Amino acid sequence: MTIDLTNKNILVTGASRGIGRAIAEALAKSGARVAVHYNHNREEAEALAAQIGNGSRAFGADLGTGDGPLQLWEQVTDAFGKVDVLINNAGVAISSDMEKDDTDWLHDWGHTMMVNLNATALLCKKAVAHFKQQGGGRIISISSRAAFRGDTADYLAYAASKGGMVALTRSLARAYGKQGIKAFIIAPGFTRTDMAQDFMDQYGEDYALNDIALNKLTEPADIAPTIVFLASGLADHATGSTIDINAGSYVH
Ligand SMILES: NC(=O)c1ccc[n+]([C@@H]2O[C@H](COP(=O)([O-])OP(=O)(O)OC[C@H]3O[C@@H](n4cnc5c(N)ncnc54)[C@H](OP(=O)(O)O)[C@@H]3O)[C@@H](O)[C@H]2O)c1
Repeated sequence: MTIDLTNKNILVTGASRGIGRAIAEALAKSGARVAVHYNHNREEAEALAAQIGNGSRAFGADLGTGDGPLQLWEQVTDAFGKVDVLINNAGVAISSDMEKDDTDWLHDWGHTMMVNLNATALLCKKAVAHFKQQGGGRIISISSRAAFRGDTADYLAYAASKGGMVALTRSLARAYGKQGIKAFIIAPGFTRTDMAQDFMDQYGEDYALNDIALNKLTEPADIAPTIVFLASGLADHATGSTIDINAGSYVH
């Protein structure tokens, strides 16, 4: 089976590091032109775009603001003309103690929702309109095991935002399939990135390792090939589904 993504333009949010970076690399290896989105890490994103080639480019936007997602979509469509696949990967996991002051706790909650859920929703809204015009497209949302299993008390907002991404993406798959739009969910478990490191600094690496069925923590490169496969169209009849990549830590 050959996967050839030549002439496919793919927007990967949060591609400056971690899972998004590995996804961008894998997509480009299959021939895609990638819009490498970043927030703070501009240099890394620009270097990555140059390294992976195929006309890939870096685009900056803060997805924690109301107009960030809209500006990102406009920049990418202006530069590339069309987008074939949207990958909602950018995310934050903020540890927020339930004992915190209510206003501070709500601030953490709000920021988590803005980046993980609101920005995803707005980008999906723009993508749906665009895909309808061009006869179809694919959306892949990087949710989390936390959406299904739940998370610790410090990460309630994170789990809730990831659950929202699942319901949103499933609804899009059901609502727009007849217009050629397919939508998928990836639910990773612990994956060795800066985000997981923050969690492991808090709870210890053994917490993560004891949780999984395999003897090695998942790396970003273990997630990326599944996204290439979904982006290719070879799995379109699985639209609406979730693929767990959690090293057997939560099987449901
Ligand atoms: N790692 C895990 O264990 C794990 C498990 C389950 C699910 N996931 C999910 O997988 C996705 C990627 O996670 P990761 O571990 O690769 O995270 P990461 O290493 O912390 O990288 C986060 C990415 O999101 C971008 N980002 C953060 N805040 C942003 C904002 N306000 N606006 C725009 N972009 C922003 C960052 O951009 P800059 O660096 O440019 O600022 C970066 O590219 C997330 O949705 C996460 O929830 C991760």
